[in-house]
Amino acid sequence: MFLSETHLPQLLRPESYFDPDWYRDEEKHVLRSAWWAVATLDEFPRDGDFITFDHVDGPVILWRKGGEIRAFRNVCAHRLAKLTGKARGHCDCLTCDYHGWEYDESGVTRRIPDASSFRPLEKGRLGLAAVQAAVVGSVVFMSFDASAPPIREWLGNEWERINERFGPRSRTLWRADIDVPVNWKLLIENNLESYHVASVHGKTLGASPDESMCEHEFSDGGSRFIGPGSNSTWGRVRLSLARQIRESIPAAYTHSIVYPAFTWLSVDLLSGFQSIVPTGPRSCRMVVRFAAFQGDTSTFLVDFMARRCVAGELTFWKRVIAEDLSLLPQVQAGIESPRHPGAGLISRREERLVHFQKWILGRMGMPSEAHGGPKRTSGSHLDGPVEHGTR
Ligand code: FES
Ligand SMILES: [Fe+2]
Repeated sequence: MFLSETHLPQLLRPESYFDPDWYRDEEKHVLRSAWWAVATLDEFPRDGDFITFDHVDGPVILWRKGGEIRAFRNVCAHRLAKLTGKARGHCDCLTCDYHGWEYDESGVTRRIPDASSFRPLEKGRLGLAAVQAAVVGSVVFMSFDASAPPIREWLGNEWERINERFGPRSRTLWRADIDVPVNWKLLIENNLESYHVASVHGKTLGASPDESMCEHEFSDGGSRFIGPGSNSTWGRVRLSLARQIRESIPAAYTHSIVYPAFTWLSVDLLSGFQSIVPTGPRSCRMVVRFAAFQGDTSTFLVDFMARRCVAGELTFWKRVIAEDLSLLPQVQAGIESPRHPGAGLISRREERLVHFQKWILGRMGMPSEAHGGPKRTSGSHLDGPVEHGTR
């Protein structure tokens, strides 16, 4: 059942989805203190493996060294070049491609070519800027904010389930980093409602589930949708196979978000996350990973059948994501139109969006005003009561 009894207002004004000033404020108040899921542990199979990630807060290198994942800004202390332009690789020490400065696992300089020409330079005084890294199950998170809450606290109720669903008995099946030409919040909002299911995914998913089979749960830092698993014959077969591998698998589909931008789902043996990393006011990167439970006591036949089912399910989820991604630029274009027919309206089925929008406004220090949205503080061209459709 949905919590709201009536339709709800769209709280964020269209400008929030493309305005560079808004985006700058968002970076400061909404995005900076977040944890970002950027990889899974199996992307670092050997000690010394690294991956790089270009985040809106700067380029980062994540390096498995001494059995731990360490993260640094991918910027050299010498002349501030990117240490490496490679997406992934392996090294015994981090070495800058430009003049060859080397750094150890703490990010401290190890060898500086022609070091005497830098005299006087105290040993170990220069080094890389560390970024926080944490692993939950096999999901690798990073945060630029040294004062961000510990990952367990930030994930709240989701921590335990993520730790289990992406734990040592799960295997990553699909890994994709997709650049999407829309504001990050549009991808989140698309994730948070099942109202578009019938029109966008009609052929793939069928009709939206009946309200009586849906549940919305809200917490301070996110929300969860619990819906019915598949009721088709295949769906029932999948569930029964899943339960031979792990008895505790629920019959439900769940989709959760931890604000601002970590969403994940679980159904049968399959779990997947989408971490939406903003890359500009009108663009973001979707970091997607899907994983499945492996059997440990089940028979070869059950494992084989389960693998076939999971492969089919994954193909299906890839199609669902592709359907959303092909539509969203159209949504961005409409929002950027200089005139609109009104402020927009949100159905009860879309109520998770309103919770998300309220959370954003709260972080920005703005009241949640109905049907007009926030007014910017002075000094912005968004000052004053700009009415949608009359600008
Ligand atoms: S900029 Fe990295 S060694 Fe010179
Ligand atoms: Fe969708």
